[in-house]
Amino acid sequence: MTLPLLDEWLPDNSVLERPQMILSTVSQGAPDARTVLLSEHDAEGLYFHTDSRSRKVADIAANPAVALTFLWPNFTRQLVVQGLASVAPPAEQATAFERRSPYLKQLAWLNSPEFAQLPLASRVEAWAAFDVPADPPPTWIGFLVRPTRLTFWTSNAEAASRRDEYTLADGEWVLTHLAG
Ligand SMILES: Cc1cc2nc3c(=O)[nH]c(=O)nc-3n(C[C@H](O)[C@H](O)[C@H](O)COP(=O)(O)O)c2cc1C
Repeated sequence: MTLPLLDEWLPDNSVLERPQMILSTVSQGAPDARTVLLSEHDAEGLYFHTDSRSRKVADIAANPAVALTFLWPNFTRQLVVQGLASVAPPAEQATAFERRSPYLKQLAWLNSPEFAQLPLASRVEAWAAFDVPADPPPTWIGFLVRPTRLTFWTSNAEAASRRDEYTLADGEWVLTHLAG
């Protein structure tokens, strides 16, 4: 369950240039973080896609609690989403792959641990010779993050920054105003 405010802040799913977000996970008891693209969002939550062999996927399998952090240009806005990640439905994963650019499709196919070990010349050669299949690789996986807390931070040069924090309690969003 999300909030209409999320639709106001995030670009429409049809916008080709996807927003970047920092995905934080609990990694063997320690925090870890990396940038991923927001593939889309809907009434259920926010979706990202990745490689099933990646560390983030092992983290989520052990502990589905994640945070997503979005930062707007010129530090005008920040959105922090706390939530629980689960594997996205197969149809969503397939659609998300179709929507990826040709470069990102090829990346999904070739960005393996073995490929990363090759010297640069071999990587360039293998990249140039690769014909990208229409279907996603077997390692393609998507996650849905269902929010449990949404924190909207806005800057304000005249009245100090402030956060509107929505916490999910018994199926209702409870709003608290917090110092920025
Ligand atoms: C701007 C940007 C966008 C990225 N988007 C994705 C993405 O959508 N999915 C993904 O798996 N990795 C993406 N990456 C790479 C990740 O940051 C990360 O290096 C990789 O997924 C391995 O992370 P892990 O070992 O922590 O699982 C992106 C990196 C950058 C800098």
